[in-house]
Amino acid sequence: MKVAFFRPQIGEEEINEVVDCLRSGWLTTGAKTKRFEEDFAAYMGGGVEAVAVSSATAGLHLALQAIGIGPGDDVIVPSYTFTATAAVVEHLGARPVFVDCDYDTLCLGAAQIDAAITERTRAVMPVHFAGLACDMAPLVALAQRRGLRVVEDAAHSLPATSGGVLVGKHPTSATVFSFYANKTITTGEGGMLVTADPEIAARARIMRLHGIDRDASDRFAGGSWAYDIVLPGYKYNMTDIAAAIGIHQLRRANAFQASRQDAARRYREALQDLPIDLPPEATAGDSHSWHLFIIKLRPESPVSRDAAVKALGEAGISCSVHYRPLHKMTYWRKTHGLRDEDFPNASRAFAGAISLPLYVGMSDDEIGDVVGALRRILS
Ligand SMILES: Cc1ncc(COP(=O)(O)O)c(C=O)c1O
Repeated sequence: MKVAFFRPQIGEEEINEVVDCLRSGWLTTGAKTKRFEEDFAAYMGGGVEAVAVSSATAGLHLALQAIGIGPGDDVIVPSYTFTATAAVVEHLGARPVFVDCDYDTLCLGAAQIDAAITERTRAVMPVHFAGLACDMAPLVALAQRRGLRVVEDAAHSLPATSGGVLVGKHPTSATVFSFYANKTITTGEGGMLVTADPEIAARARIMRLHGIDRDASDRFAGGSWAYDIVLPGYKYNMTDIAAAIGIHQLRRANAFQASRQDAARRYREALQDLPIDLPPEATAGDSHSWHLFIIKLRPESPVSRDAAVKALGEAGISCSVHYRPLHKMTYWRKTHGLRDEDFPNASRAFAGAISLPLYVGMSDDEIGDVVGALRRILS
């Protein structure tokens, strides 16, 4: 491949911290995880707790569980998302109610949520898609007016802002970030649940580790062996090996964002004359994490999206598609009777969507290779 889809940025600091962890004799949740959580809460500007988990999926599951979602409840989710957003709702015996997204932003808007609310609706899960934050002020106002909880799927959006407020600091029940291998910061696998509600944080801490009333480092690192089980928990804790990477990734998060934003700016300039829809920037004064740079081919495009992705691959450009919406996935479509015509924006966006390579430190030559290949394919 001439241009990879993604390249993680693992520096000497991350490597040394992992080696330190391995040599320390303490590999699972312990001091490094605690430090990562404290650093993360501070990065958010304080006023929140950060609970480190094994994935964003785990964090979303814990967040919904902590606010009491269960059988008989409906939770509004976008169809244009990764399956985890909806799957965690079903894990709790509740029902995901799928709504369409906005074509340009690929995010949920307050109007789409409003139209889907029934007396069973308990919560809504906005996804800050590709790193562009949903317009949070009207969404939060609607949720407050209609008595809904909000759990933000921020898997893509560290760091991003809406209305000048960092995602993670809006007045919602919880926000969950992903540190999966190709995310804006990574721990290989991992996630962080952020909440200003101490009860949600306490519940998530207990449920992430089997429902044990205290964590392993308390029990083994000089503490007492004894513990109690207070709830039927999961195994969702973060290891210190992962946290060792995260501590240093977090320190570089703003520099990573600036580099990705610069790559996005160069893409936008170089692609503006092509007959494609470019991803929107954040509104003035706000920040986009640029996890993904998604262009959309228009219906009149000379090649289909699939043909374009294949041709880009043959030209040495590794691309992807985010995502095939859930109303087009067998399980969700069949179980919930979902139809394309109920999701016109998501269906149209998916038909043309291509995620171009985007990573920290992309050179002008790499961007030039992607743009050149795309130009040839679309001409
Ligand atoms: C929108 C969205 N939500 C949740 C997840 C799950 O993240 P994780 O892999 O950390 O569980 C992803 C993963 O790509 C995602 O894209």
